[in-house]
Amino acid sequence: MVFCSMALGLVLLVFSLLSTAVRSSQETEERDKAHPVPCRGFLVLAPNIECGQFDVPVDWAHPDGPHGQIRYVKYPAATNATREGTIFIRPGFPFDKNFMTLNEETWFLGMAAQLHSSTNGTYDLVFLDVRGRGGSDRTFPGAFTCFNSVAKKRAFYLETSAELGIEPVWDEGMNFQQDQTYEDAQNWLLLQSKMVEHCLKKQSTTSLKYVGTAAAVRDIISFADYLDGPGSKVNFWGVDFGALIGNYLLYMFPERAGRVVLQAPPDPVEYTHSDSYEVWLRAVRYAHQVVLSKAENCMGRDKSSCPSVTESTGSQAELHGLLGTLALARSKFVGWQHDLEADANNTVLTSVVDPALVEELYPNLNNSLSAVVNLVQRMIDGADELGLGTMPIICGDQAAAYSPEAAEKRNMEVAGELKDALHVAPLFSTSIFPPLSSLCHIWPIRAAETLPDLRDVSSIEISTPPLVLQFAQEPFYRPISNLSVVLPGVKNVSAVMQVRTGADGFTPQTCMGRIVFDYLVNGTLPTQSVCYGPDDTDIPPAHLANKPSTAPTSFILSWWRKASSEILLLTAGSEQTVWMVSAVALACCAALVTKVLRNRRARGGAVRLQEQYDSKLSALKSD
Ligand SMILES: *[C@@H]1O[C@H](CO)[C@@H](O)[C@H](O)[C@H]1NC(C)=O
Ligand SMILES: *[C@@H]1O[C@H](CO)[C@@H](O)[C@H](O)[C@H]1NC(C)=O
Ligand SMILES: *[C@@H]1O[C@H](CO)[C@@H](O)[C@H](O)[C@H]1NC(C)=O
Ligand SMILES: *[C@@H]1O[C@H](CO)[C@@H](O)[C@H](O)[C@H]1NC(C)=O
Ligand SMILES: *[C@@H]1O[C@H](CO)[C@@H](O)[C@H](O)[C@H]1NC(C)=O
Ligand SMILES: *[C@@H]1O[C@H](CO)[C@@H](O)[C@H](O)[C@H]1NC(C)=O
Ligand SMILES: *[C@@H]1O[C@H](CO)[C@@H](O)[C@H](O)[C@H]1NC(C)=O
Repeated sequence: MVFCSMALGLVLLVFSLLSTAVRSSQETEERDKAHPVPCRGFLVLAPNIECGQFDVPVDWAHPDGPHGQIRYVKYPAATNATREGTIFIRPGFPFDKNFMTLNEETWFLGMAAQLHSSTNGTYDLVFLDVRGRGGSDRTFPGAFTCFNSVAKKRAFYLETSAELGIEPVWDEGMNFQQDQTYEDAQNWLLLQSKMVEHCLKKQSTTSLKYVGTAAAVRDIISFADYLDGPGSKVNFWGVDFGALIGNYLLYMFPERAGRVVLQAPPDPVEYTHSDSYEVWLRAVRYAHQVVLSKAENCMGRDKSSCPSVTESTGSQAELHGLLGTLALARSKFVGWQHDLEADANNTVLTSVVDPALVEELYPNLNNSLSAVVNLVQRMIDGADELGLGTMPIICGDQAAAYSPEAAEKRNMEVAGELKDALHVAPLFSTSIFPPLSSLCHIWPIRAAETLPDLRDVSSIEISTPPLVLQFAQEPFYRPISNLSVVLPGVKNVSAVMQVRTGADGFTPQTCMGRIVFDYLVNGTLPTQSVCYGPDDTDIPPAHLANKPSTAPTSFILSWWRKASSEILLLTAGSEQTVWMVSAVALACCAALVTKVLRNRRARGGAVRLQEQYDSKLSALKSD
C-alpha cells in the first residue's frame, strides 16, 4: 500500500506540474493536428515519453465533418540519430486491460525501450489508442460507459429484475452468491439484453458507428501521414486484437504496408463472419483444454509428463502462473462473477493441483485454491466494467447486418445453447456465461465502414513480406496452421511458431524477440519457422523466478528508479506475466481486499473463510 500511495502522490505531483506547462504551449499549437497533453499513470515516470492527442475526423467518409481525437504515446527517436520513420505498436490481450502494473502502456514502454536501443534510436515508436477504448476524456469516440458506479449498475439490474419477475441473487458488487443454474443463465441473458437496450437509450449513440477496426486503421494511416509524410510506409506491430488492425491495414492500404508484424493474430474471417457466441465457445473450450492439461501434468502429484518450461521455474512459480492464467481466463471469458463462497466450491481446481503444493504456498488457506483465484480476480476489472467493454468495436465489425427479428431468434437459440455451455470450463469457474462482446446478436449498431471481405481476396501485392508469430501452447491463442486463413492472397508470408511456453519475454536474446527485432530494425526475415522455446540465455534472474510473491513489487520499484523496463521485458511472456499479475495485485492491494472482506463480515457472511483470508492477507502485507 505504501507503494500504491507513493505512486499516486508522484503521479498527482507530476500531473499538476505538467498541466500548467502544457496549457500555455497548447495555444500556440492550436492549428496543429497533434497536441501534447500531460502523460498519466506509469508514463509520467518514463523520461522522454511524449503524450498527446491526434486530431481525426469522427467519420472518415466525411473528413470535413465533426472532428474527434485519438490519444497517442510516443517514444521519440534519439535527437542525435538520423530519423528513419515510425513504428506503430499495438498490444492486445492481456495487455488491453487496466491491470495495475500490467497494461498496454507498461507493455508498450517495455517493448519501445528495447526497440529504441535495437534501432539506435532511429525510429519514433508510437502507441495509438483504439476508438471505443482508452480514456473517454482523451480519445473521442472513446469508451462507452453506461453507469457512473457499481451502485447505479446494481440499481438498474434490481429494477429490471423486479419488472421481469426475476429473483436477484447477487451482492452489491454484482457477484452471484451461489452457483448459477441454466435458468439463471437464461435470466441473465434477458437482463443483459435489457442492459444493452438501456445503455443505448441513455446517451447519444451517434459516435458508436464510427468505432471499429476500419476506422482504427485509417487513424494510424493518418498519423503516419502526419509524422512521416503522405504515402510513407507504415511499420506496425500488433498483438491479438491489435494484430487485426495490422491485418486489415494490409488489405485496405497494401501500398502503404512497411514491416508488419502480426503476433497471435485471430482468424479475421471468423472474427467478422462467425457468430460471436460460437467463436467464444470454441475459444473457451480450447483455453480450458490447454490450461487443464498443463495443470494436470505439471501441478498434480505426478509431474513426470510435464512438458517443462525453463529449468529455474519452480513449482511455486508454476502455481502462480496457473492462478494468474485462471484470473485472466475469467476476465476474458466469463461474463458474470461469483462471490468467494460460491466459487470456493470449485472442486475441479483442487482436484488437479497437488494439495501439498498449495499448502506450501498458502498454509492458512486450507487448500482453497479457488479462493485465491477469487482474490486475484477481485483486483481485475469485471468482464464488462461499467460500460459495454469491447462490445461496440467487436460487434460493430460483424459483417452480418442487424435485424430485430434475427436478433430475437438468435437470442432464443443462444438461451437454449447456454445449457451446454454453462459447465464447459469448470477449471475457470463452476459455471460460465459469455461476456457482452460475445453476444453480438443483441448489438444493433454496425461500423459505418465495413471491413474488406477477405473471403473474396485472390491475390494482393505486398512489397515487404509480413511476419506472423504464433504460439502452440498459449491458452488464449489458437494457432492457425494455414497461413492463407490469416493472410489470404498474400504471397511470401514469413511465419514462426513457438512450440514450448516458458519465461519467454521479447528481448533480443529470446528466439521470438530476436526475430521480431531483426525484422522491425531492418526487414531481416527469419531463417527458421519454429522457435522451440526461449533461448538458453533467456533465464530470468534467480531471485525473480524463486520468489514469486515478493519479487515483482521490488522489481517494479527498481524499474521506476532506473526508468527502464527490464521487468516488463523479462515478464512480457506468458507464464512470468501472469504470476506477476497475481502476485503484484495481491501484494499491492491487500488492504483493498481486506476492506471488501470486512464489509462482507459486517453483513454476517463468510465467517468460515474470513479468518483464513485475514491471516493470509496480513502475511502478504508484511511483504
Ligand atoms: C546519441 O547519444 C547517446 C546518449 O547521449 C549516445 O549513447 C549515442 O552513442 C549517441 N549516438 C550517436 C549516433 O551519436
Ligand atoms: C547501431 O550502432 C552500432 C554501433 O554504432 C552499429 O554497430 C549497429 O549496426 C547499429 N544498428 C543499426 C540497426 O543501425
Ligand atoms: C457448496 O457446495 C455445498 C455442497 O455441495 C452446498 O451445500 C453449498 O450450498 C454450496 N455453496 C454455494 C455457495 O454454492
Ligand atoms: C484449516 O484451517 C484451520 C485454521 O487455520 C485449521 O484449524 C484446520 O485444521 C485446517 N484444516 C485442514 C484440513 O487443514
Ligand atoms: C488454406 O485456407 C484457404 C482459405 O481458407 C483454403 O482455400 C485452402 O484450401 C487451405 N489450404 C489447406 C492446405 O488447407
Ligand atoms: C517471393 O519470394 C521469392 C523468393 O524470395 C521471390 O522470388 C518473389 O519475387 C517473391 N514474391 C513476392 C510477391 O514478393
Ligand atoms: C540487418 O541487421 C542484422 C543485424 O543487425 C544484420 O545481420 C543483417 O545483415 C541486416 N540486414 C540487412 C538487410 O541490412
